[in-house]
Formats: sequence, structure tokens, C-alpha cells
Amino acid sequence: MRFFVVTASAARQKTDCAIVGLHESAALSGAAAQLDAALGGRIARLIKRGDIRGKAGETTLLDTERGPCPRVLVVGLGKKDGFGRKQYRKALVTAINAVAKTGAKDAVSYLSLETIERTDAYYRGRFAAEAIGHCLYRVPAIRSTRAPAAPALTSFGVAVSARDQQAEAERGLLHGQGIAAGSALTRDLANLPANVCTPSHLAQRARELAKTHRSIKVKILDERELRRLKMGAFLSVTAGSAEPAKLIVLQYDGGRKGDAPVALVGKGITFDTGGISIKPAAAMDEMKFDMTGAASVLGALKAAAQIGVRQNLVGIIAACENMPGGKATKPGDVVKSMSGQTIEILNTDAEGRLVLCDAITYARRYKPAVVVDIATLTGACVIALGAHHTGLMSNDEDLADELQSAGRRAEDRCWQLPISEEYHEGLKSNFADFANVAGRDGGAITAACFLEKFVKGLRWAHLDIAGTAWLGGSAKGSTGRPVPLLLDFLISRG
Ligand code: BES
Ligand code: MN
Ligand code: ZN
Repeated sequence: MRFFVVTASAARQKTDCAIVGLHESAALSGAAAQLDAALGGRIARLIKRGDIRGKAGETTLLDTERGPCPRVLVVGLGKKDGFGRKQYRKALVTAINAVAKTGAKDAVSYLSLETIERTDAYYRGRFAAEAIGHCLYRVPAIRSTRAPAAPALTSFGVAVSARDQQAEAERGLLHGQGIAAGSALTRDLANLPANVCTPSHLAQRARELAKTHRSIKVKILDERELRRLKMGAFLSVTAGSAEPAKLIVLQYDGGRKGDAPVALVGKGITFDTGGISIKPAAAMDEMKFDMTGAASVLGALKAAAQIGVRQNLVGIIAACENMPGGKATKPGDVVKSMSGQTIEILNTDAEGRLVLCDAITYARRYKPAVVVDIATLTGACVIALGAHHTGLMSNDEDLADELQSAGRRAEDRCWQLPISEEYHEGLKSNFADFANVAGRDGGAITAACFLEKFVKGLRWAHLDIAGTAWLGGSAKGSTGRPVPLLLDFLISRG
């Protein structure tokens, strides 16, 4: 897809399809009014007849027969009051899905000229590129039937109202393309079935990423090395699996030499059966998504490299399967983590924290400025926050604030949960330093408290993406979250 910024008026700009907006019970304005005048009042007549109402989600495709654009797509924007970044994003998605159904090879969006609360030229461009990437994404098909034809659309313009906004909009388009590429990688990996996307497959994809981007280096540690590092917690999770576990370490050098890196640590359980504490059968297939934290680390690094984020980054991915089996870890088993702390594994289904704690301990050798772990960690987080906000927990209020504002800017939000001292009590054990589970209450929080025992002296935040990483039902699939949030966080630090 080719992206460009448009400064000409809608009445003069040549394009296969002009995309204009109309608010509910509002008069035609801006680009829509200009095109309406060029069309002899055709859009106004349709509004008067009640055929176009401007409701959010509504689209009307007009064949104009004359003028510089053969098609005009009128997109309903809903209420004018409170039209913000979320509504703008939604309108873009509606518009792109409608344009993709036509034969238009090229389109120009004038939605960016609307009044959008707290949104500058940069985000107007960036959201357009992100939305194109999101809408035109197709699941890597493993089908015997032919895939549906790709949309004709190959170039997309975003209008700005003044020349001095052009550079910012262009920067937004570039960043949006990077984020879209990163999200697409995350979605591809997460959507793959677990018989394809094994820990070895993730390692191979990480190698490919390092091949494509000179700024990325990769190192893969196998089980022999994990044993040498005394990663007893990580190894206890892979014990029941025939697939070899991998610790994938990526380094992106975008900052000044010697600057402390941001460490991104991803949970890479390529399938979570629960182990001996086995899960019920219903929807267990969705546990192929349990490596989305890992996939978002790879996606974020890809986006960072493509954008050229000025930060040093380390990505650490703990990848394995959680399976029952003759050698599997049993409830009550006690293991020793790389940190030296011992853990009583009371529930083998609380495996994410076990692989993460050793990966976080490993991250220490990079003397990171901050550590952010990303994990589909708890069903409790889905109960607490649903599918809209990622769970955020941190031992550092400034870091938590940074991530919350990044999420708001990126329209990929997270919400902070407390991890005060009292919550640690539930993890007490009679047989080891602590247990891997507490009671059912506050399950997202007690999981974070477990991780907190491994981050002493580090500035750390934990993103529980169990509710936001994928959609269920008929739209089942990876969302690519939280790559946009992570990139906003990284860009704002550079
Ligand atoms: N991968 C799951 C968390 C999960 C469950 C994510 C459902 C998305 C949807 C995790 O490994 C897990 O099983 N967590 C347990 C923890 C419990 C045993 C303390 C859970 O949430 O039930
Ligand atoms: Mn589990
Ligand atoms: Zn899991």
C-alpha cells in the first residue's frame, strides 16, 4: 500500500474514491459540501430524502459520473459532540471496509479534516495507516479452497487542512505503517494453530525477523542452556511436552550505544492445556493464543525497527507448551527458580508466571531501564476488565502513568490494578518460599504479586492481555494488541 498526504481541495483532487464524512443531523460541511456542490446538490438531496442520515457505521457509495472522482463514499460519523479518536478510528474502519468491496485502486480520505477531539495531524495519519493494515489483514490461510481475491486498493491518501501539517501527517503515516506491520506479525503468529506455531517455530520467525532488519540481533537458548542457567520454574512448565522449549532473546539497537534498554518480556505458551491441572474442554482451542505476549514482543520489535525508534530494546520470550504427560509437573511439586527462590506449584495451570519469572530474572543481565512483561496471564483479568482494557500492574507509578497515557494516545488502552502488600499474603506456602497461586479472589493481582517477587530493584510493569489479545465467537482471531500501545510508549521515550 502506498500512502500519501493530500492538501488540494476535494473538488479538484483526482482519486478513484473520495471518502467524506457526515455527522448525524448536521449540515454538509468541508469536503462533503465541496463535492456536493460539484455534484449539483446530489448528496444534499439524499439527506433530505432521508436516505443518508449520518449514523455511525452507515456508508453510502455514490457513482458520480462526472468530476475528478468517479466514486464518493459518504460515511456516517454519528453525533458531532464527543467525536474523538475512537470515533475517528471506527469511521476509518467502516470506510476502508466499504472501499475494499469496490474496484477502487486508490482512495482519499477527508475524514481527517473533521473536528476530532485531542487528535493532531500525526494521529490523523497514523490511525489511517493502522486502520488500513487492520482491515486488509487476512489470516494466514491453511485452506484447500482458493482464498478470496485481495481488494483492489493499492494507494491511500489522507487529507490535511494546511500545508504546515503535511510533515506531521506523513510521519504519522510512516509510523502507522510500521505499527500495522508489527501488529500483522503478531496476529499471524497468534492465529497459527499450535501444531504449526511451536516454540521452535517462534524461534525460527525470530531469526527471520533478525534477517530482515539489520538493527535486530537474535539468540536462541535451548533446554540444555536453560538447565545450565538453573531456570527450574520455566523448565517445570515444559516438562510434560515433547516439543523443546526455547528462550528467544532479541536485541534492537536504535538508541545511543550504552544506553540502558527497555526490556520487553513475553509469555510464549504455544498451547496451554493446563497441564495436570487440566482445563475443561470448552473453548480450549483458544489456548493456542497463549503465546500472544511473545508474538507482541516480536511485533513490537518489528514495528520499532521499521519505524527506526530511537531506543535500545531487548525482547525476551519464554516459549514452551504446557502439557500433561508422564514427566509433567504435578501439583505440590517444588521447584527452584533462576533467582534461587523456591516455588510450590499448587496449580500447573498457573504456568505463565512460572516461565515469566525466569525470563525476567534473565533480563537483569541487560541492566534494563525498565522491564515490561506482556502475558495472557489470567482469566481473572478477563472477568475484571473484559475485552476493552488491558490489565496494568506496576511497582513504579511513573512507569504505570507512561503506559496508561501511551494506551490512551494509541487508542489501545490499559487500566491499572493495585498490587499492594496485602495481596501477597495469599501466596504463602508451607513447603517453599511461596506458592504459584493464591485463592480465586483478585486473581489478576495475585499473579502480578507473584511476578513482583522477581523484580526487586527493577522498574517493572506487567500487562495482562488475556482479555484484549484475541476476540472469540464468529470474529475469532488475534487483535494485534498491545502493539500500538507498546509503540506509543517506546516512541514517546525516544
Ligand atoms: N492462559 C491462562 C489464562 C487465560 C485464561 C487467558 C482464559 C485467557 C483466557 C493461564 O495460564 C491460566 O490458566 N491461568 C489460570 C490461573 C489460575 C490457575 C490461578 C486462570 O486464569 O484460571
Ligand atoms: Mn494456564
Ligand atoms: Zn496460560
